[in-house]
Amino acid sequence: MKKIKILAIVGSLRKDSCNRQLALAAKELIGDRADFELLEYQDVPLLNQDIEYPAPQAVKRVRDAVKSADGIWFFTPEYNHYFPGVLKNLIDWLSRPVSDKDPQVLSGKPAAISGISPAMAGTGLAQDHLVTLISFLNMDVMNVPRLVIPNALQQVDDQGKPELKASYPYLQKQADSFLSFILKECNRWIL
Ligand code: FNR
Repeated sequence: MKKIKILAIVGSLRKDSCNRQLALAAKELIGDRADFELLEYQDVPLLNQDIEYPAPQAVKRVRDAVKSADGIWFFTPEYNHYFPGVLKNLIDWLSRPVSDKDPQVLSGKPAAISGISPAMAGTGLAQDHLVTLISFLNMDVMNVPRLVIPNALQQVDDQGKPELKASYPYLQKQADSFLSFILKECNRWIL
């Protein structure tokens, strides 16, 4: 059987992003049970319908990455109780039909959501908004478990990098659940 491919989309472009580090921790926990790739999308332009067709090269690249993935795992910070604009811009591009024949690439894709924040509130509100958006786009959302990690500064090492020791069991549980969720969805199409 073909190896599952998970595409991680991090809602922060920051080099030392906690959410990026959470995604890298998830990659480690998934191990060789699936291919796990982080989507780089810094070069995707702001959506402007004047430049929509033909799609810019960076947009073609991210659409192809999503198309070839069996599941999308979002790792998002919370900005003002919402998910960041860079992520909304990316999803807006992905939400547009590629051509008359090809529908938009997010439809039907299994999705998981996690988020980490230095603040007490965590990323719960941002995640709720993201669920609303990706459900509208017909993604297949794994609502249980979702992972909200607040107070990230309580889990950092000497260099201030998140160690996530206390959160690891929850991340592990989500990784295991997402793999099962994707497999169940894949089998549904085969049967
Ligand atoms: C924040 N931050 C934040 N945190 C939170 O838990 N709830 C919030 O509503 C906000 N709002 C907010 C707005 C803006 C504009 C910024 C820049 C930041 C703090 C945020 O969680 C923190 O900067 C994280 O470290 C961002 O995630 P990455 O980049 O570390 O992944």
